[in-house]
Amino acid sequence: MLVSAKDMLVKAKEGHYAVGQFNINNLEWTKSILLTAQELNSPVILGVSEGAGKYMTGFETVSAMVKAMDKGLGITVPVALHLDHGTYDGCYKCVEAGFTSIMFDGSHYDIEENVAKTTELVNVAHHLGLSIEAEVGSIGGEEDGVVGMGECADPNECKRIADLGVDMLAAGIGNIHGKYPEGWPGLRFDVLDAIQQKTGAMPLVLHGGTGIPADMIKKAISLGVSKINVNTECQLSFAEATRKYVEAGKDLEGKGFDPRKLLAPGADAIKATVKEKMELFGSVGKA
Ligand code: G3H
Ligand code: ZN
Repeated sequence: MLVSAKDMLVKAKEGHYAVGQFNINNLEWTKSILLTAQELNSPVILGVSEGAGKYMTGFETVSAMVKAMDKGLGITVPVALHLDHGTYDGCYKCVEAGFTSIMFDGSHYDIEENVAKTTELVNVAHHLGLSIEAEVGSIGGEEDGVVGMGECADPNECKRIADLGVDMLAAGIGNIHGKYPEGWPGLRFDVLDAIQQKTGAMPLVLHGGTGIPADMIKKAISLGVSKINVNTECQLSFAEATRKYVEAGKDLEGKGFDPRKLLAPGADAIKATVKEKMELFGSVGKA
């Protein structure tokens, strides 16, 4: 059931768990995530980066695929179709394409411009019943061409953006996209704590969910994180399962080269990763 992300995140914040955002790249990714959410009776957010949207021939195609698949698979748990790290123009495109949620990543603008653009997009999104995420500070590393320096968010700027009425707020707290490097000092819980104190009931978003140790995830949730984004980890598990299948020569046996067989181990691996994350985030049974 396609919905905005607002209610599921308010419930998560109140219930002290987090909803997973899993990024999609194609039909297999989408199906694996939807089926796992349904099996575990968990709310879920499907994240679409601008790069992945382009890869899937545009946001219209993504929206049509997700809507048809949601119906075709008989998905009854709440599912938000969300633009990830959107540009100003990308937000408008996703609104037109029928997404149920958008992220405006204005973190690379100065705070005044971030506030101005976020204000406009909050009005547009809410007028149409969509939820909207904004970002302050930046997530380190690179994701689909979005590069961040990793500076921690200023709690006062977080409050300014939260007060604009966004439904969820992403704040840089030492988190990084992609694999965490050797010697990474960990999340800045002091910064997260200060942000939560300034922003109160606002659901906070933790990007760069790949590879963060379980105890840090739990602590982040206890400090107000209600949405956790995972992308690279699904890609890694898909790649590993596919490599094993090919290296074992299974693509050479029988009809093993049939894409429906060749892609099946990777799709199952995505399901396993999503299940593990939903269990860790505490969203199982919360649909
Ligand atoms: O926006 C998406 C994410 O923040 C995912 O980060 O690829 O490190 O899991 P990740
Ligand atoms: Zn991100």
